[in-house]
Amino acid sequence: MSGPGSVAASRARASESELSLLQLLKPAVLADPYPFYRKLREADPVHWDPFLHSWVVTRYADAVTVLTRSRAARTPSPERMRELGLQELAPYAAMMMQQILFMDPPDHTRIRSVCAAAFTPGRIAGLEQDIRQHADALIDEAAPRGRMDLLADFASRYTGLVLCQMLGLPPGNHNQLRRWAAEFGELVGNFEHDPETMDERAESLRQFKAYIAEQVIEQTAHPREGLISRLLAADVHGVRLSFDEIVANTLLMVGGGIEETANLIANGMASLLLHPEQLGRLIAEPEILPSAIEELLRFESTTQYTGRIAAEEMSMGGRLIQKGDAIIVVLAAANRDPARFADPERLDLTRADNRHVAFSWAAHYCLGAPLVRMAAKIAFSSLLRRLPGLSLETDRLTWRAMAAMRAIRALPVRFAAVSAAGTGRPPAASERA
Ligand code: HEM
Repeated sequence: MSGPGSVAASRARASESELSLLQLLKPAVLADPYPFYRKLREADPVHWDPFLHSWVVTRYADAVTVLTRSRAARTPSPERMRELGLQELAPYAAMMMQQILFMDPPDHTRIRSVCAAAFTPGRIAGLEQDIRQHADALIDEAAPRGRMDLLADFASRYTGLVLCQMLGLPPGNHNQLRRWAAEFGELVGNFEHDPETMDERAESLRQFKAYIAEQVIEQTAHPREGLISRLLAADVHGVRLSFDEIVANTLLMVGGGIEETANLIANGMASLLLHPEQLGRLIAEPEILPSAIEELLRFESTTQYTGRIAAEEMSMGGRLIQKGDAIIVVLAAANRDPARFADPERLDLTRADNRHVAFSWAAHYCLGAPLVRMAAKIAFSSLLRRLPGLSLETDRLTWRAMAAMRAIRALPVRFAAVSAAGTGRPPAASERA
């Protein structure tokens, strides 16, 4: 039986589902989530999502407040994983609870300070020359072909090599690491898990963790230059990390670092190719590259959202968030909030006052940000300088089905085919001979 009450109730449910973040599961929304974020920000900026049992925050000022004042310890315990029907992941839940992304003080402060000591500006600068060579070698390979998938052939291989270099992992394994990183991304970046692929994903995570653990053991005996050895040796005011903490946080950095940085390069190149006037400007004025990278991070934020738990009662946007409530902060929506960014839907490579939240905010601000900025600068400048006439080979970009991450599936491009020696790269010794 249906009466006026049930019509009103079903309308309310329909409008609730229209505003649910689950909309991101629809291919059309996934392809361009920004109209949906705008609708959410305008209709209900501090929205209770009954399907996700979570508040969803989309305004910039609210995002900053939540990221500053809330707790980060939110990843399910092994018992909770089993209750959620994700028993395959229960063995890894304890590991994720040791990743700094999901920790609060004092443990977060203790582990982050040790990791940060290994991420010094001097160490990042010391990697620059090798990273430049990785970019050049990959471009040398593609340049004579006149076309490539810029994601698979460049961005993803490049970031695999960058992360191996940073962490001190043998570079020969970067392809396997990329696959594990992608599968780890699919696991943590989705609302729903396909039971069909769950065993495979859990097996991939088991192998990924076993490999990192092996490397940590190997480097305990035979240190290589890189972050793992530094974490093993680090002693910040008498604080040292345990074996399990080093494995958990190395896996976080490899997994998150490869995927996110590859997405920044591929999404960023896609944004440039779709805005030829901005691309032309960047080619003509390469000195604007640092500001362009900030704008590309804001415009297509690879981490679309993150989560928190309210540490206290908070009144926000006319809503009362209770202590202990789950909150999803949509970084990508905050980055397009017109109350913070003038004309936010416009790509403006010289945008002033561009303090985006693509790397988050406050205590959990991305530790890899200086490495990402340096690696992105080398990648964009090498690609634009050495591959003249870059253009998209498709008019339909498709996106991976991951709600939490903005990740293009492929980026087929064309350019004027050139021999490696004729592309602006200083010739190698063997070519000069
Ligand atoms: C474009 C590339 C990247 C983006 C957009 C990005 C984004 C982020 C974001 C949004 C967070 C915080 C999430 C939150 O507040 O809940 C974060 C945290 C973190 N990122 Fe990145 N990341 C990138 C690359 C990297 C790389 C290359 C590394 C390491 C080599 C790295 C290491 C970390 C670590 C260790 C944390 C945890 C910090 C903490 O919880 O204190 N990231 N990243």
